[in-house]
Amino acid sequence: MTAAGSAYAATEAAWRRDPEAWWAAAAEGISWDRRWDRVFDPAEGPYGRWFPGARLNTSYNCLDRHVAAGRGDQPALIWDSAMEGRVETFTYAGLRDRVAKVAGALAALGVRTGDRVAIYMPMVPEAAIAMLACARLGAIHSVVFGGFAAAELAARIADARPRVIVAASCGLEPGRTVAYKPLLDAALALSPHQPEACLILQRDALAAALTPGRDHDFRAAEAAAAPHDPVPVAATDPLYILYTSGTTGKPKGIVRDNGGHAVALWHSMRMIYGIDAGEVFWTASDVGWVVGHSYIVYAPLLRGATSVMYEGKPVGTPDAGAFWRVIAQHKPKVLFTAPTALRAIKQQDPDGALIARHDLSSFEALYLAGERCDPPTALWAAEKLARPVVDHWWQTETGWPITAGFRGLGLFPFKPGSGGRPSPGYDLHALDDNGAVLPRGQTGNLSLRLPLPPGCAPTLWGDEAGYRRAYLADFPGWYRSGDAGSIDADGDVWVMGRTDDIINVAGHRLSTGAMEEVLAAHPDVAECAVIGAADALKGQVPLGLVVLKAGANRIEADVAAELVALVRERIGPVAAFKDARVVKRLPKTRSGKILRATIRALADGQTPVVPATIEDPAALDEVGAVLRG
Ligand code: COA
Ligand code: AMP
Repeated sequence: MTAAGSAYAATEAAWRRDPEAWWAAAAEGISWDRRWDRVFDPAEGPYGRWFPGARLNTSYNCLDRHVAAGRGDQPALIWDSAMEGRVETFTYAGLRDRVAKVAGALAALGVRTGDRVAIYMPMVPEAAIAMLACARLGAIHSVVFGGFAAAELAARIADARPRVIVAASCGLEPGRTVAYKPLLDAALALSPHQPEACLILQRDALAAALTPGRDHDFRAAEAAAAPHDPVPVAATDPLYILYTSGTTGKPKGIVRDNGGHAVALWHSMRMIYGIDAGEVFWTASDVGWVVGHSYIVYAPLLRGATSVMYEGKPVGTPDAGAFWRVIAQHKPKVLFTAPTALRAIKQQDPDGALIARHDLSSFEALYLAGERCDPPTALWAAEKLARPVVDHWWQTETGWPITAGFRGLGLFPFKPGSGGRPSPGYDLHALDDNGAVLPRGQTGNLSLRLPLPPGCAPTLWGDEAGYRRAYLADFPGWYRSGDAGSIDADGDVWVMGRTDDIINVAGHRLSTGAMEEVLAAHPDVAECAVIGAADALKGQVPLGLVVLKAGANRIEADVAAELVALVRERIGPVAAFKDARVVKRLPKTRSGKILRATIRALADGQTPVVPATIEDPAALDEVGAVLRG
């Protein structure tokens, strides 16, 4: 279907005509305790705030109101653990009751509206329950992905200053049990801030030792608690903080508010994914990422749909048919995952033989995000699955897709390599480095004209100046996404890569700057550079080049092994940092800037364009020899 003939064009035009009226209409999908004074107030915050004056509770909107509307017996959450080999289904009434009790347990530990609660858990239903329990109290959760090391957890605890931490005894990765509790203890030993209490979910695979006086057993606390009612909060109050990689080693605390988030996510479920109340939706990601926050937990529940939560991998649990087994068993209409997962499946089952073994009759569309989907993978998926394959682009900051294909609006512009068309609500353009709008087809800084729509981060936690600096300062009146790309003649968007030092490893957003800080801390390292090298499975993997200090009389392989261990210890296994190489010197410009883009091109086997400003071309040749060797 062409854009001109689709509901997309009409919807986009309606939003452009009167954005506030359009969002006010969308807001009718949410139950408010008090309606807004204004739909949008441009005077508040870095670029304005949505729905000031309104009050609501997000957990009530996710759970209680669906029970009241007769959906109490409908599954809200289906937890499928390939790791434990079992499935647990929670109805809306059942989930509401558990969330109310866990909210009661948190309240009994002193958690009140506005307090922070850190959540460090694997893909267990209690992670979602803890998030919703915080939302019920008006407390602000900060979920930390389990693949991060103690030091990263400590940095997040120090910044968010949680009153309580909810964690599990362990996570289950193929072939190993990850003991979470010792990581939490190590993080608390590093953190200047200490929580008043920790609530620990003991999993069967590994019980954790509890620290008397501080640690409480999750299940016992839940059992003993009185159910807690939802506490209405201001629409502009924070619902959560989610830390993400920026250009420095210090992660940025992305803030999400309650009101705009509920409106945007509720609305996106039908407009983008074409999912309504009563339908099944599956996002194969992790609750530790924004994709998990938005599309495992909040959006499907706000809509009254059924969300599948999967603990397992696309391959190896037990095979490359795992995703198709889950679809056949739970019957989602839409699967949302990262391209890297598909590449892993394609690598092991190139002919799609395992696809044919499962009943995929429920399945209507595949949505991909987290990194750009390379065209061969998109084409493979489209051919083998014979369903629309939609690559859609967004960020932790925006909370919901900036560009997409729209099942709800009859528009699937399948152009492998493109991220689809802007979602109504976002005014997207490519800008040149002076902030001028570029004509169609030209590549520039993908930027959003302010204001950002509801659901996007209004600020950074405790750092409004940092928000302005990171996103708003370069192009006044615009939000700079940090991605480069273009918009073609049809209006489809091509996102080609970051303009900063953020890399995407298996759909995980990581900062090479943070890894450089770790390498530079090694006693034998004089200077270093980390780049994202192309990788057939993970999209990118980090590669570290280090120059040793004069007089460091070390075997190079030993230093490299120490550096790999150091990144794993400081940042975590998720960094997938496995390649460090010693070089005599790093290629630089005459002003002393390391030529990272040139090194990256070399690492990817390309012939780089050598900048005229290079200090000594021989340094580049030397690095090339090390990379080839
Ligand atoms: N807790 C502890 N460790 C974790 C973890 C968690 N929650 N998640 C990942 N790790 C570890 C892995 O065990 C692995 O450790 P290893 O170095 O000892 O093998 C390391 O972190 C890297 O993990 P990952 O990047 O996931 O690589 P993998 O080789 O285990 O699996 C894929 C490759 C493609 C199967 C996997 O990356 C995948 O499914 N990715 C989907 C990504 C995704 O959902 N992204 C979210 C955005 S949509
Ligand atoms: P995160 O904040 O972890 O969701 O990562 C956001 C970043 O991942 C974006 O700024 C992009 O660089 C990249 N990204 C996510 N989805 C896509 C996509 N569909 N196409 C291209 N890049 C993407």
